[in-house]
Amino acid sequence: MNINELIKKIPKAELHLHIEGSFEPELMFEIAERNKVEIPYKSVEEVRQAYNFHNLQSFLDIYYAGASVLLKEEDFYDMTMAYLKRCQEDHVVHTEIFFDPQTHTDRGVSFEVAFEGIRKALKDGEKNFGITSEIIMCFLRHLSQEEAFKTLEMAKPFKDSIIGVGLDSSEVGHPPEKFKDVFTEATKQGYLTVAHAGEEGPAEYIWQALDLLKIERIDHGVRALEDDKLMDLIIKEQIPLTVCPLSNLKLCVVNDLKDHNLKTMLDKGVCVTINSDDPAYFGGYMNQNFVETAEALNLSGEDIVKLAKNSFEASFMEEGLKESWIKKCDQLL
Ligand code: ADE
Ligand code: ZN
Repeated sequence: MNINELIKKIPKAELHLHIEGSFEPELMFEIAERNKVEIPYKSVEEVRQAYNFHNLQSFLDIYYAGASVLLKEEDFYDMTMAYLKRCQEDHVVHTEIFFDPQTHTDRGVSFEVAFEGIRKALKDGEKNFGITSEIIMCFLRHLSQEEAFKTLEMAKPFKDSIIGVGLDSSEVGHPPEKFKDVFTEATKQGYLTVAHAGEEGPAEYIWQALDLLKIERIDHGVRALEDDKLMDLIIKEQIPLTVCPLSNLKLCVVNDLKDHNLKTMLDKGVCVTINSDDPAYFGGYMNQNFVETAEALNLSGEDIVKLAKNSFEASFMEEGLKESWIKKCDQLL
């Protein structure tokens, strides 16, 4: 089997996907029209042309503007369902999606409206496509910890449907230590924890996320390689890194996919996974990330199988299900 066929066939779990980042321009136009909301673009092509980013912030400005057309439960449902259809095409059998409540509550859309639209689509995705899923609620790190506490409070009625909390948005200048207390409280309430760290920010932010926020997984974490002691810990404890190669390329974290350190980390024994982050903005869903990375870094069939197995290993799936997917991955080698 050639590499691209293997990538298509192998079951995969996605662990780093912002649902608002799966919002394709075509659907954005449709929903804007339906909701009678003005958007500052004349066509889908013009929207795509605006997707030329030079860093994380230049992307976030456009990403938050895009999300502003989402007003009703059905809007969140349609966006999530469109993503699940892409999962089915790419043989993503399990997904743990991020949702940014504050992106919506801060502009007057209730937590419930956004959450229920997403949750109902995920439920239908399981029923119709057999895709299992979890929801991780992220705090926006450019806002205050007090705001994050308010979001944690708003989530209370929906807690049983939220597996964990995360931390995203503008990284540099907003270190994990800023959110120590709210993560401690979330853990006390029974949430699992993850955080974006070491995407644009230094390795020090990864230390803080591990030591102060006690996270289970590091989102991105590509700058861990700058710190040998940190690498030793990540390998010894098998702390997963949810890496997003096309995102790193589009946001200029790397200048060329050939320079990406994913293969180096994989060879060192890090539990790295491949994910799409914000696929509508970065030019590819799961399989496109695999295909382009495999080509740029000359990944072998064994590497592909290891990456797919890592995605289940690093997931928050129940152990028995994890094992059965891992077995299916091994059978493809
Ligand atoms: N929100 C959506 N995508 C993000 C990313 N790549 N980094 C931080 N925050 C985000
Ligand atoms: Zn992300």
